[in-house]
Amino acid sequence: HSVGIIGAPFSRGQPRDGVQLGPDVIRQAGLVKKLEVQGCAVKDYGNLKFEDLPDDEPFGSTKRPRAVGLANKQVADAVQRVKNDGHTCVMLGGDHSLAIGSIHGHAACRPELKVVWVDAHADINTPLTSPTGNIHGQPMSYLIHELCAKIPRMPNFSWIKPCIAAKDIVYIGLRDVDPEEHYILKHLGIKTFSMTEVDSLGIAKVMEQTCDYISSKIKKPIHLSYDIDALDPSVAPATGTPVIGGLTYREGIYITEYLCQTGLLSAIDIVEVNPNQAKREEEVHWTANAAVDLVLGCFGRVREGSHADDYKIP
Ligand code: ARG
Ligand code: MN
Ligand code: MN
Ligand code: MN
Repeated sequence: HSVGIIGAPFSRGQPRDGVQLGPDVIRQAGLVKKLEVQGCAVKDYGNLKFEDLPDDEPFGSTKRPRAVGLANKQVADAVQRVKNDGHTCVMLGGDHSLAIGSIHGHAACRPELKVVWVDAHADINTPLTSPTGNIHGQPMSYLIHELCAKIPRMPNFSWIKPCIAAKDIVYIGLRDVDPEEHYILKHLGIKTFSMTEVDSLGIAKVMEQTCDYISSKIKKPIHLSYDIDALDPSVAPATGTPVIGGLTYREGIYITEYLCQTGLLSAIDIVEVNPNQAKREEEVHWTANAAVDLVLGCFGRVREGSHADDYKIP
């Protein structure tokens, strides 16, 4: 596997400080080295530099629109560069508003892509339905053709054109969905595997059905957007909006192993790791290690172990 890593130290899609430290915390947990040890060619493009915009007044109730719009343009351009260089792209957030730029940039290079969104939350509020005004709870709404007419014009958002259809999305891990979001999901007929389906089907059937749904006849590239809060807070506590009752470590890893097997993973987001939300230093390490293990699973790590093709017993 050839991996291109982009760090996106950005927090303005939500109010809690610290999520901008995610990329460095995940790198410090040994991401690059561990990928190389398992045989990946890694190019780390480093961290993007985001300007702080001084007079970023709310647009209606939507907070920090200018900063979010501009940062996402930078992410979209960076993802396009990584894809054009021929790598599978790994975008380390930062908050989940960054999926706007990541998916937009990916879709510019791979217009037929499918999205697998692993999250406790649906992040599909529009600026008008959002209960919080935080854009990290809204990224999907800007990307879906069917919601286009519901999105107001916002400063620094004019470059964003919807690039995916409702039928091209699968959610896994949902357990904290706002009523307005639930209406949108049902109204658009979006495929969802909430934690209830993870419980009833088991994660193996969930993944089988996910891949049946997104790749019927023709194989399409997959964009995996993985919010660390999809994992249970006992496994990944250092995050801004933890929700009890999440994926176990094993279920979380199984998703990545399964998607890797398809050979279709084309871009991956790992978002919402926030070291400042940890109660103890240990919790930062658990969370960062989980994030690293999810990425390793995307690039061929299997729990049964593995060996080089040419290995011989000495
Ligand atoms: N649904 C809530 C909102 O719209 C919470 C979103 C949490 N999103 C996240 N990326 N952690 O504000
Ligand atoms: Mn979430
Ligand atoms: Mn999210
Ligand atoms: Mn693989």
